[in-house]
Amino acid sequence: MPGFFVPFALAAFLFLPICSIAQTTGGGTRATPSAAAPAPAADNCNGIFLSYRTGTGSKIAPTDPKHQPYRFESTLTVQNNGIERLKSWQVYVGFKHDEVLVSASNAILADGSSYPALVGNGTVFAGFPMTDLKTAIETAGDSTQTSVEVKMLGTQFGVKPPAIPWPANITLVNDGWACPAPSTLGKIIGKNHLFLHADCSN
Ligand SMILES: *[C@@H]1O[C@H](CO)[C@@H](O)[C@H](O)[C@H]1NC(C)=O
Ligand SMILES: *[C@@H]1O[C@H](CO)[C@@H](O)[C@H](O)[C@H]1NC(C)=O
Repeated sequence: MPGFFVPFALAAFLFLPICSIAQTTGGGTRATPSAAAPAPAADNCNGIFLSYRTGTGSKIAPTDPKHQPYRFESTLTVQNNGIERLKSWQVYVGFKHDEVLVSASNAILADGSSYPALVGNGTVFAGFPMTDLKTAIETAGDSTQTSVEVKMLGTQFGVKPPAIPWPANITLVNDGWACPAPSTLGKIIGKNHLFLHADCSN
């Protein structure tokens, strides 16, 4: 039924690629976002590629029209496409819907919070147990060593499906890296999965 997906195909494409620039000087210069960025693809990034994927989730109890909770599941991917190891990776996710994070794989919360964690003002994930992301060069492109997937389960408030509870932002917070302001955001894939990307290059 191709027609079924037509509304989704016509829905607005929202892209938010960001490219973090490694500042070898440790300076805070911000890169300017590329204009009219193409669809985000890891292949286009020779640095750290970030992706945040989520769906629409579902309503959970209690029923409260003023502050309705919904379940969400999201996956953050951090991929090193660069020429240097990314040591002690840390990624900020700018949650903004009163999110309660219930679990997350392959990472801990950098502030030491345990689950369930109130992350509605954003939070920083740090790799655990794999803290460093090796390069493709030194691993012959072994994605299990160059990238990590953080699968999150949580509750958000007020974003009724099919609307998507996007975070405001995803960015590397490692010293020496800078991200330009997000310019565009994610993309509708199939029925309701969207992707938020940050292309971080050096
Ligand atoms: C988020 O920030 C606001 C304003 O500082 C504060 O009132 C609120 O308690 C914070 N929420 C969480 C979950 O930290
Ligand atoms: C994204 O988050 C980083 C880290 O908190 C911040 O420095 C940057 O200004 C944010 N960008 C936007 C567009 O919110």
